[in-house]
Amino acid sequence: MIRRILTYPDSELKKKSAPVTIINDRIRELVNDMTETMYDAPGVGLAAPQIGVHQRVIVIDVSPKDEPPELIVAINPEIIHAEGESYEEEGCLSVPRYGANVRRHARVVVKAVNLEGEEVTFRAEGLLAIAFQHEIDHLNGILFVDHLSPLKKEIFRKKYRNAEQARVGA
Ligand code: NI
Repeated sequence: MIRRILTYPDSELKKKSAPVTIINDRIRELVNDMTETMYDAPGVGLAAPQIGVHQRVIVIDVSPKDEPPELIVAINPEIIHAEGESYEEEGCLSVPRYGANVRRHARVVVKAVNLEGEEVTFRAEGLLAIAFQHEIDHLNGILFVDHLSPLKKEIFRKKYRNAEQARVGA
């Protein structure tokens, strides 16, 4: 089922998500809904709190549009190693129509659990490394715009609020 994606400045996006303790039908349904919602949007990643569920679950697919989908489901994902630097433009389904460059690690190793309850390790670089860091941030109540400098953040807040009001009013 496609779920509604919460958008900034919804306070639900700022809450920390809890670890998944058991993989049951509810979690499987959550993953299905998140996957459907991400592809429908479309986006390259989605974290459970973005649909108002505060559980540590993320889905990612950074495969090119003309290639078969490569879905990654990561439950309780944790960055166990990070190195290098990147500074790429990011966007977020919860911050529509806004992009900004964010400092991230260029390469990460992520430990997680899959839907079968097995421990899995991802060695990621490039867009996938950024996606992991972005989505794991969501689980900690952090949006990519939180990484902007105080001045840029202030400009973002003002511009974004005005733009949203103009849009709603139109
Ligand atoms: Ni996001």
